[in-house]
Amino acid sequence: MIPQSFIQDLLNRLDIVDVVDRYVPLKKAGANYLACCPFHGEKTPSFSVSPAKQFYHCFGCGAHGTAIGFVMEYQGLGFVEAVEELAKSAGLSVPKEESGNFERRPEGEIDALSDALQRATRFYRDELKRSETAIAYLKKRGLSGEIAARFGIGYAPGGWQGLAGAVPDYQAKSLVQAGLVIEGEGGKRYDRFRDRVMFPILNQKGAVIGFGGRVMGVGEPKYLNSPETPLFEKGRELYGLFQARQAIRAAGKVIVVEGYMDVVALAQHGVEYAVATLGTATTSVHVQKLLRQTDNVVFCFDGDAAGRKAAWRALENSLALVGDEKSVKFLFLPQGEDPDSYVRQQGKAAFEALLDGAMPLSEFMLRELAAGVDMQTMEGRAHFLKLAQPLVQQVAAPALGLMLRQRLAELAGVSRNELAQLAPVKPAVTPVAQRNKSSRKPPSLTRKLLQLLLYQPGLAAEFDASLSGEGSEELKTLRALLDFAAITSGSPRTTVAVLEYFRGTHHEALLSEVSGETLLWDDGFEVAAEFAGALEQLHKHERQRRVESLLARSRTQGLSAEEKQELQRLLQGGSVSNRCA
Ligand code: UTP
Ligand code: MN
Repeated sequence: MIPQSFIQDLLNRLDIVDVVDRYVPLKKAGANYLACCPFHGEKTPSFSVSPAKQFYHCFGCGAHGTAIGFVMEYQGLGFVEAVEELAKSAGLSVPKEESGNFERRPEGEIDALSDALQRATRFYRDELKRSETAIAYLKKRGLSGEIAARFGIGYAPGGWQGLAGAVPDYQAKSLVQAGLVIEGEGGKRYDRFRDRVMFPILNQKGAVIGFGGRVMGVGEPKYLNSPETPLFEKGRELYGLFQARQAIRAAGKVIVVEGYMDVVALAQHGVEYAVATLGTATTSVHVQKLLRQTDNVVFCFDGDAAGRKAAWRALENSLALVGDEKSVKFLFLPQGEDPDSYVRQQGKAAFEALLDGAMPLSEFMLRELAAGVDMQTMEGRAHFLKLAQPLVQQVAAPALGLMLRQRLAELAGVSRNELAQLAPVKPAVTPVAQRNKSSRKPPSLTRKLLQLLLYQPGLAAEFDASLSGEGSEELKTLRALLDFAAITSGSPRTTVAVLEYFRGTHHEALLSEVSGETLLWDDGFEVAAEFAGALEQLHKHERQRRVESLLARSRTQGLSAEEKQELQRLLQGGSVSNRCA
């Protein structure tokens, strides 16, 4: 039994767009991503993946589900296998749980973290206005007020508990969990960030998930970063991506640099399509995120040994992800320069000229490999091949893979055939399952409520939505959904959490079908009001049905005293709501 809390964590970390894109290349179309459906044959794409809702739906064949569901369908795996596969890709190991009882993240925990981070951001920004030293520091580094504002740059004052004035409760657990406050021995608390220039790190939705804080003078560490929290995982996040999105699209490329200041300084000089890793190596999640934004990625590193090593890691994590229509390049700056210093001295045009001359992935790979061996000897060339083969095998792009093999063979002085005999080409993954068509039904009142509830699961907590009486399958599922919200004392946070909770129950099929129907909804309507209205109507119908059945019985066999009271109550209730309506 896999604990529910783990499934929730896993789903929080996964992006369904990444997951599906690994098997079926997706193209952005408005808010969603499109592809030809892998579950039925088609020429025009009707397979849609929603990053906001975190599920997929095919308008052609009706296939739908979560990231876990997709992997199950596509690879023909069982639930546990699919979870294990996805966990592995996210670098997690699946914990086992003895019994079937579930624990989940306390409701509101994530909200509390976000709230604390938001308050801290505001506080640091206000403090910057008051700190002449911090303002002078940023000016000295060539930043304007507009750019500082664009990146939400702030200043954490020098005191030990500066944040105490910015949050309702300095003792709240969330402050420690968010990485803002450190609890020392004896439970004494103090701010993690003190006397530092603060760079908020945003997720793809623009919410603050962490900070980097720079000392202004000398001091260690130069940059202090938020620890990893449920919201912040360095291997997944890119500094500046949220601000850079439009510029990336406009420029048709993204440049990946090493530092916060590099991103900000480049933006200051008009190169707005730069992002940075957060003091960590480039991961495949980073590369996936970037290749989803644009077809051209340029990694820009220092020219020193550390920079080349960092570039190599980026290369390793790009091989499997580059397609023939994509390009990944590497730019090494002159010794002693970083993008910040370079663009400040040489300007935008000079920097962009360097970018244009960046080294293609293939060239970087072959050069580095050849540099590590003696290509003049047979042994050296054999070693070269041995090192290159596993890398080339990872290249999924057919044409690029082919050319790399050609070039490898040339460089090693063997024929393509001989090379192929050394290591056969891996076959690609193919879809296993084919989905049946499922037809759509016209929405009943109950179905509408289901749709709204799946669209915004938080609604369940806002209403006294207990439902009585027997009814259709839809009504039973609706009741189960409301009960679920009640036992989790509040509401499940996301549609995906709901779908996963009901996996394997007889509600599963209906729930995932209904969630698919909401895929193209957008936020331009009052969800809560619609829900309240539909719920009120449903209650009215319920009352009417009960009244009718009680009246019918009173005519045939008479009613008990209790039933008479109930009837009276219902009739009063009914007339009240009729008057309102
Ligand atoms: P650099 O040392 O290259 O700093 O670190 P930088 O970006 O050029 O900074 P400035 O120009 O001196 O202000 C590159 C990145 O490595 C991480 C940060 O993400 C930084 O932006 N880093 C560096 C840390 O996390 N901690 C450190 O102490 C140093
Ligand atoms: Mn720098």
